[in-house]
Amino acid sequence: MAENPKHIAIIMDGNGRWAQARGQMRMFGHQEGAKAVRRVVEACPELGVKYLTLYAFSSENWSRPEEEVTGLMSLLEAYLKNETAQLHKNKVRLKVIGDRTWLADKLQKLITASEELTANNDGLTLCILLSYGSRDEILSATRKLAEDVASGKIKSSDIDMNMFSNSLWTAGIPDPDLVIRTSGEKRLSNFLLWQVAYAEFLFMDVMWPDFDKNYLAQAIEEFKNRDRRYGKIK
Ligand code: FPP
Repeated sequence: MAENPKHIAIIMDGNGRWAQARGQMRMFGHQEGAKAVRRVVEACPELGVKYLTLYAFSSENWSRPEEEVTGLMSLLEAYLKNETAQLHKNKVRLKVIGDRTWLADKLQKLITASEELTANNDGLTLCILLSYGSRDEILSATRKLAEDVASGKIKSSDIDMNMFSNSLWTAGIPDPDLVIRTSGEKRLSNFLLWQVAYAEFLFMDVMWPDFDKNYLAQAIEEFKNRDRRYGKIK
């Protein structure tokens, strides 16, 4: 039996469908989704999870209708404004990962302030992927390493898996042990492609706004029954 997962990464899917099934606007689903975020962040320390990564907004999500993009950005802003103090109190260390140049100045400042305030906390590390695309991240790491080779700082033969991992935006964060996607969709959608090389995957038939501690505990139980061999034979 495997150990508890230390790092769980979640593709929070199904907000729109959840709302539409109730005759509500899609934004209502995202608002309820933010409540599920709160529940899961609180549950992690109780379930022994040290790192939680949440896919909040992908680089592809910028092409959604303007109204939804604005609504999601406001929701993220409200989350940081209203929750940072509580996160800090609960010893959560917050990290926002993605291409920030696309974000409004106001949001960028809020993110920096929340990250700085919580930087030395030793409880849960909460990574929020925002304006994130895994291929963008891999390209950015590749460019950086190519520049270091061109300038003579490193040799191309110095580049190994460790150096590559440390050139990604997730540098310093251990790879996820378990990836959960809600809503029944079975895709990765440009999510942490390098980092999930040896992760276990769980596709759950629950819409994200309904997700809670019980679903998380169920996912952890399922993970513990998996036989992780990393390509080896026992
Ligand atoms: C996917 O559902 C969800 C998103 C694109 C946004 C996720 C955002 C939140 C849960 C809200 C706030 C987050 C934080 C960290 C406070 P979808 O809209 O693609 O659903 P659908 O597939 O049913 O249309």
